[in-house]
Amino acid sequence: MLNIRIEKAPAPKLLPEADNPLIFGTIFTDHMFIMDYTEDNGWHDPRIIPYGPVPLEPSAMVFHYGQELFEGLKAYKAGDGRILLFRPELNAKRSNDTCERICIPTIPVPDYVQAVKELVAIDADWIPDRPGTSLYIRPFIIATDPFLGVRPSASYKFIIILSPVGAYYPEGLNPVKIWVEEEYVRAVRGGLGEAKAGANYVASLKAQIKAKEAGYSQVLWLDGIERKYVEEVGAMNIFFKINEEIITPALCGSILPGITRRSCIELCKLWGYDVSERQISADEIISAAKSGTLKEIWGTGTAAVISPVGLLKKGETEVEIGNGGIGELTQRLYDTLTGIQLGKIEAPADWVEVV
Ligand code: PLP
Ligand code: COI
Repeated sequence: MLNIRIEKAPAPKLLPEADNPLIFGTIFTDHMFIMDYTEDNGWHDPRIIPYGPVPLEPSAMVFHYGQELFEGLKAYKAGDGRILLFRPELNAKRSNDTCERICIPTIPVPDYVQAVKELVAIDADWIPDRPGTSLYIRPFIIATDPFLGVRPSASYKFIIILSPVGAYYPEGLNPVKIWVEEEYVRAVRGGLGEAKAGANYVASLKAQIKAKEAGYSQVLWLDGIERKYVEEVGAMNIFFKINEEIITPALCGSILPGITRRSCIELCKLWGYDVSERQISADEIISAAKSGTLKEIWGTGTAAVISPVGLLKKGETEVEIGNGGIGELTQRLYDTLTGIQLGKIEAPADWVEVV
């Protein structure tokens, strides 16, 4: 259990107006959580302080070799006024898995969740309650040793910031257009793909710009070796419904094990669907689209929630999915998941936690 020191912001900011569109990741609350790590003291000095700049040496290792990781989860305001978190222990565990991969000391799961809860409670007034909005929580860890040699840092900062958000994609729940990337790859097995390290997102920028310029919102990544099998989308995992089979790429080491992905698999199984976690090639998807057996495609992610995919482009081939509208199962998953997150639908055990 952490003993978190609290220093309240002397002059709280104005809350966003009720009609503010809450463009993803642009507004930040009054406070942040910080905890330091040193070899002598381990993780220590947990504190909630006013949101603001974090002084770092220009030689801090994070600036040079990118030893950094982040997480993303959300807090929701339920109709009865409770503040709910969705499976926060899974974010804490995944953060620790990433820590292991990029040589950062782990944080006990209960301490991680406690830090999130205490910060959210202090900035609870910032949780928006319009449909489709929530308080996005961004925990991250950075390497802070002032040193230019390549080795793991011996000091770190764990920081959590909060941002009231609306939809991640400007399209909202309207289907997004996806670009199958054939030139660049995001990750390879043995690399960082299954870790939530900032480095993965840098690797994705070039293709994302290419896709945007061509009029597509996101990149669908293929495997780094054969450049054939679908992995995931820029900020979400991906699902296909071909006839009655639900397919999502197996976690093979280069895909982020999404918490929304896991929750969707669990819901679909609960509803009696066959869910296959397997390899699926872009060509299999395109032929299913052409033969009419591809019924739905959707992405899953904390920021993206459940996002229908309406169009897929690979090379010269473009296929439309379900006449460009939202599929029946996609809608059911969206309604159920957001219903659970907002406390309107009873959740399977342990899925929501009250702050
Ligand atoms: N894949 C990538 C690359 C992501 O950045 C995210 C977002 O966190 C996801 C998948 C979905 O993961 P989750 O459902 O845990 O948010
Ligand atoms: C999330 O969904 O929490 C993410 O981390 C996606 C992010 C890259 C915006």
